[in-house]
Amino acid sequence: MIKYIGSKRRLVPVLGDLASTVGARTALDLFTGTTRVAQELKRRDMRVTAVDSARYAEVFAQCYVGTDAGAVDREELAAALRDLAARPGVDGYVTETFCFSSRFFQPFNGRRIDAIRDAIENDYRASALYPVLLTSLIEAADRVDSTTGVQMAYVKQWAPRSFRPLELRPPELLIGSGRAVRGDACELAESLGPFDFAYLDPPYNQHRYFTNYHIWETLVAWDAPVHYGVACKRVDARDPETRSVFNERSRMAEALAGVIRDVDARVVAVSYNDESWVSIDQLEGMVAARGGQVCTLAFDSRRYVGAQIGIHNPRGQKVGKVSRLHNVEYVVVGGDADTIKAVSGRFGGNRAPVTFEPA
Ligand SMILES: C[S@@+](CC[C@H](N)C(=O)[O-])C[C@H]1O[C@@H](n2cnc3c(N)ncnc32)[C@H](O)[C@@H]1O
Repeated sequence: MIKYIGSKRRLVPVLGDLASTVGARTALDLFTGTTRVAQELKRRDMRVTAVDSARYAEVFAQCYVGTDAGAVDREELAAALRDLAARPGVDGYVTETFCFSSRFFQPFNGRRIDAIRDAIENDYRASALYPVLLTSLIEAADRVDSTTGVQMAYVKQWAPRSFRPLELRPPELLIGSGRAVRGDACELAESLGPFDFAYLDPPYNQHRYFTNYHIWETLVAWDAPVHYGVACKRVDARDPETRSVFNERSRMAEALAGVIRDVDARVVAVSYNDESWVSIDQLEGMVAARGGQVCTLAFDSRRYVGAQIGIHNPRGQKVGKVSRLHNVEYVVVGGDADTIKAVSGRFGGNRAPVTFEPA
């Protein structure tokens, strides 16, 4: 899976366990990103709907949530990946924009990304494998990029992994079917359900996913956009439609309260971290406003990889020190009295952080 700010890699087992504890059969992952939480819920035999506003997140959801591994011919997928991997590189948009105008990929990999992406569009557009092949390409590109985990900048010296050749791997598909939806959570929340369990993991501050992962947006849209700035961002990053209300300090709390109120689920679990614009008290209040009871689980968690490497300017130079590498991840859970009793019995839930290490 790709490097992604705010990805809940470490919390995945807890969230899966939480959904199982409340006996969920249907589940919503409303800000699904990499889809790793949705995947865990699907692995536990829940019928999952995965939603995000990002184009690449929709592709990941079509691959990991929407595609039933049982319906995929493994040999056909392997043959398609071999076919794509054998395409000779071409000089295209990625090479020109992300290897020469900027330095996100080494040119030998950029040319292969161009050739493979063209081939996916020309030869596999109508195939059920389309999102699976696109996911494979994005994940392969992510393994050889030259960033600290976001695409607002590339590092000054080529990252060691960028010297490796691009390698297409088959995504680890899951048995069962589910739903992938692209759209604005604020508009969709009330129409998606009902669900037994809904997990909400919105952005909590000014960092925009659209610009942080603009290369993945472009790899999916494949529209060769006009670009600007050192990082060659898509010009539509300046358009209001590509902005999320969750990145606006003055509107975020109201939007979040609305989504929490509207989502049609027996149990909601909302992720929160202590770098957010809203306080944990405010968030608990939003969940309490649904009726029923609330408990808050707290986990000590390491921050995303970029923060551990340092703060960089647009030229990839280190310009600041990171003050702390740990933060507390909270999960605020709302449901009826019996549910909250079961959750507290299983996880504690008094806001006292427990150190959580991945299984
Ligand atoms: C914190 S990340 C989610 C990470 C995810 N749980 C994971 O583990 O990969 C927040 C996500 O919200 C999405 N997003 C931002 N604004 C949105 C909106 N208005 N509606 C739906 N999704 C939105 C972003 O694209 C991003 O993927």
